Parts: sequence; C-alpha cells; structure tokens
Amino acid sequence: MSRLDSAIRRLEAQRACLNRAAAMIKDVPGIVLELGLGNGRTYDHLKELLPDRRIVVFERKAMAHPDSMPPAENLIEGDFRDTIPGIAAKLGEQAALMHGDIGSGDKADTLALAEWLGPMLQPLAAPGCMIVSDQRLTLAGGDVFPLPGMVADGRYHMLRLQS
Ligand SMILES: C[S@@+](CC[C@H](N)C(=O)[O-])C[C@H]1O[C@@H](n2cnc3c(N)ncnc32)[C@H](O)[C@@H]1O
Repeated sequence: MSRLDSAIRRLEAQRACLNRAAAMIKDVPGIVLELGLGNGRTYDHLKELLPDRRIVVFERKAMAHPDSMPPAENLIEGDFRDTIPGIAAKLGEQAALMHGDIGSGDKADTLALAEWLGPMLQPLAAPGCMIVSDQRLTLAGGDVFPLPGMVADGRYHMLRLQS
C-alpha cells in the first residue's frame, strides 16, 4: 500500500471511529478529551460533532492550524506524563469521550507511552465513556468496542467503559 493510501485510510478510520463514538455518548454526560492536538484536524472534527461539549486538549506544544487552536482555558500544554497525573480534580468533570492520537516515529516510545497512558486515564473516564485511540490502551472495565466496518483491525482502537 502506498503511503498516500495508508494516510487516507488512517484519516478515514479516525473519522469513522469518532463519528461512531460521538453517536454512542448521546446519553453519557461529560466532557471530551483530545490527547495530541497535532495539526488540529481531529479536534476540529470533534468540535463539529459535539458542539455543546467542552473539549479539553492535552498537547506537548500546541502548533495547530490557527482555526483549530483550542481556547486557552481548554488547552493543557506539556508532556502527558507531567500534565495528566492529578488532573482529574482540576477538570472537575469526567469525560464521556476520549480520543488519543499519540503515535510518533519512535515505535518503542509510543508503545511505552500507550502502556502508561491507559491506567492514567481511568479516573478521568465517566461510566460509559468511549475511548478512541491510534494505540491500544488498557483501562479496567474497558470493553473492546467493534470498529466501524470499513476500519481494518488494528488500524484504530475503540473501547467502551462499563456503565
Ligand atoms: C499524530 S499527532 C495528532 C494529530 C491530530 N489527531 C490531528 O488530527 O491533527 C500527535 C500529537 O501528539 C503529541 N504528543 C505525543 N506524545 C506526547 C506526549 N508525551 N505529551 C504531550 N503530547 C504528545 C505530539 O506533540 C503531536 O502533536
């Protein structure tokens, strides 16, 4: 598969999974967490899907497209390992949906980050929370949620926290 095809499939997978997750949280109260702002494409999509939800973004150094910069009060800058521990009390509300797009060029680093991240997200997740991610995350009580039909196994990951 060409890199172009692979990039297109990745973007389609993100969109399909986010669309599905947004539909699933209709009756789940809570905020949305975006882990990894990047260019802001998926953040922008989440804003469009869930215009009435607060979306809190975690990013090492925000350098998104200007149209996709979160307001300062919803942007938590710094390394996840510094910003996520202890953030639950400050947020004041659990999340109904979390999206993590955290992969970097370094596979070993990315896997180690994903392994660390899952349990750290546990206190931030509301019952029934949907967790959508580019890496496999593990949360206690998180059931693997079926991917939309067009998304190949392993390309993206979805979990639903038990209610
Ligand atoms: C692939 S990009 C996200 C792209 C985004 N979903 C979009 O649609 O534009 C991954 C982002 O995660 C951020 N990131 C990766 N590891 C991080 C860490 N340990 N702490 C904070 N941010 C991190 C990177 O800085 C990068 O901006």
